[in-house]
Amino acid sequence: MGIDLTKEQKNRVEELLSKMTLTEKIGQMNQESVSIVGGFDVPFEQLIEMMTDGRLSKEEFQNIMATAETDYHEDAIREGKVGSLMVQDPEKCNELQRIAVEETRLGIPLIFGLDVIHGFRSVYPIAIAEAGSFDTDLMEKTAAMAAKESRSAGVAWHFAPMLDVARDARWGRVSEGPGEDPYLGATFARAKVRGLQNDHSSTENYVAACLKHFVGYGACEAGKDYNTVSMANHILYNNYLVPFKAAVEEGAQTAMASFNDLNGVPSTVNKWVLRDILKYSMGLNGFVVSDANAIKECVVHGIAEDEKDAARKSAVAGLDMDMGTEIYINNLESLVNEGKVLVEEIDDACRRILSVKMWLGLFDQPYVSEEAMKRYEEIPEEHKALALKAAEESAVLLKNEGNILPLKKDAKISLVGTLAEKKDEVVGAWAMSWKEKDCVSILDGMKQEFSNVEYYPCGGPEGELSEDEISAACNNGDVIVAVLGETVAMSGEAASRADITLPGKQRKLLEKLIASGKPVVLVLMNGRPLALSWEAENVPVILEGWHLGIQMGNAIAHILSGKKNPEGRLSSSFPAVTGQCPIYYNHPNTGRPAGNFKFTSRYLDAPFTALYPFGYGLSYTSFEYSDPEVSEEKDALDISVKVKNTGEREGVETVQFYMQDVAASIVRPVKELKVFEKVSLKPGEEKTVKVKLFKKNMGFWNNQGKYLLEDGFFRIYAGSDSATENCKEIRVSFDDVERLSDYPMEK
Ligand code: NOJ
Repeated sequence: MGIDLTKEQKNRVEELLSKMTLTEKIGQMNQESVSIVGGFDVPFEQLIEMMTDGRLSKEEFQNIMATAETDYHEDAIREGKVGSLMVQDPEKCNELQRIAVEETRLGIPLIFGLDVIHGFRSVYPIAIAEAGSFDTDLMEKTAAMAAKESRSAGVAWHFAPMLDVARDARWGRVSEGPGEDPYLGATFARAKVRGLQNDHSSTENYVAACLKHFVGYGACEAGKDYNTVSMANHILYNNYLVPFKAAVEEGAQTAMASFNDLNGVPSTVNKWVLRDILKYSMGLNGFVVSDANAIKECVVHGIAEDEKDAARKSAVAGLDMDMGTEIYINNLESLVNEGKVLVEEIDDACRRILSVKMWLGLFDQPYVSEEAMKRYEEIPEEHKALALKAAEESAVLLKNEGNILPLKKDAKISLVGTLAEKKDEVVGAWAMSWKEKDCVSILDGMKQEFSNVEYYPCGGPEGELSEDEISAACNNGDVIVAVLGETVAMSGEAASRADITLPGKQRKLLEKLIASGKPVVLVLMNGRPLALSWEAENVPVILEGWHLGIQMGNAIAHILSGKKNPEGRLSSSFPAVTGQCPIYYNHPNTGRPAGNFKFTSRYLDAPFTALYPFGYGLSYTSFEYSDPEVSEEKDALDISVKVKNTGEREGVETVQFYMQDVAASIVRPVKELKVFEKVSLKPGEEKTVKVKLFKKNMGFWNNQGKYLLEDGFFRIYAGSDSATENCKEIRVSFDDVERLSDYPMEK
């Protein structure tokens, strides 16, 4: 797939390239950082980061932007030395674009990029939550919505989807990606790329995706952000590369190199991962951008002597665009003149960048129209409805003892927790173009849905508890709904935590609420799996609400009232205690799997399984599985299982099919998700769910990058989460089955 340019468009790119000076070519490789001058010695990206992670409130950010003098590098644009900027104001985009198109020698348009991770104006659930909807159509539609909204504001390039497989919940960035599983990650990746890129009915409907962070960032040691990554090749190929490979196959235009080193080499200068794997083996036709400031950081990292050395190593490695350091623009020309970087390498990078701009239609339609600029001043009803659907499908019911939920509409509810009233907490990390007036807090949603709600803040993730409010909440309500968890600033970039239990005094608060003897419903707002062993033991009801976006309040209220029957699943395992991290269901086997005797792979002081496993989630009804069947065809296994709704209301079940390669030439995971299907069942209804598992997808890459399909025994599981034991064994032969392509080895 890749960039599908017409012959005429390709010729236009080549013709342009032939007319460009070396400086102009290098200019295309330069993404300028919008600098804030006049008292704020902070680059724009950092301000954005500070706003998205909560260090600056949205108001403070807007005040800075309104009062600060901002340097948009107009002169450099005029000289053809800028290829891209991060801007989110459409009028500003047009103004800068006019300089690029009308005042430069060749009139090459700029590409404006931004972190649109889970929505632009209409913010929808953070990725770890949305992936748990297991609804690929939904994932595609939300991406398409974000594409339309941002493109109409001039932003034609999203630094998304984030596809880092992440298995250590201490890492704050688990919130930004689709969780721990490569298959679910790949499914999410495909849907997002389609949604962002595929509607070409108008240039205002699509953007270029930027797959990030390539690669291995999610495996940062001990879950500490930016930390070193070491992994065997087979782990890289069979896990961390899988979502990226799928996204490139789907036609993704660009990618971002990750901050981390992989086995000693930072991605920014890693020719093996950027050129050999991403571009040549996977076939990314578009360009690769660095992460913010990363070329400069190669010096601190100890992989380059100085900025010039960092520029050389990055350009040679195949890093096409520098995000925000001006190191390319300052050094590449002399490096080419000295013969240390080849003109061909510059041409390749520039061609890739121009091709993406051409594909985006920027040469023919560089500006945002007046009409488009106003189009999403108010969020259209259909976008609100989609954000609500996404939020409703992503919340996960973890526990519902005694069927306390759903609550009656006129139940006397004490709503507790400072997070419940906050509109700016529903959007989650990396959301920046939302407006407070569009955000529905849980308090708003509950008041709308229930007739008898009283709010008592009591306390939250930060600060002290209010004893008076706690006793009022306990005395006045018949049921207590406690909204607890993490602030937005506690997940996302640079937000690793060494202890992932409920922060602050929230456990104390829960103890006091439970002591009242009233039923307590815990609604969680958080950006990562939490260690909830105490809560699982002591609180009767737990609803994982994540950060669900602008419609969070309505979605939670609808689930609590039963208007919506919960159907979300966990895209990441929840440990019982932090010390179990990293914890993931699809871990390689050991010769001594965890068991109830000493010499096994386990901790003495923690359970050996996750508290809530990958794929887990309850409904207000129940489902029963029976008669799993597996048969072999030439190219696929035919698998089926009967699923029955044994409860009293209609519900949606995510039927999950896992595989275990029982014996292979390298140790394989104890289970791997291979297919899933969502089914809706009426009370008493039974359906036979039939799926195909294509044999070519049953193999694995070994440490030498070879894709192997080895005959032998396989266990095929069908169940409602990754802990299922419901399985059939089958001997499979792979005669004449087409293999997936190999990966190149590091030279
Ligand atoms: C740093 C982050 O790692 C990356 O995800 C983001 O796209 C850039 N900053 C730009 O904001």
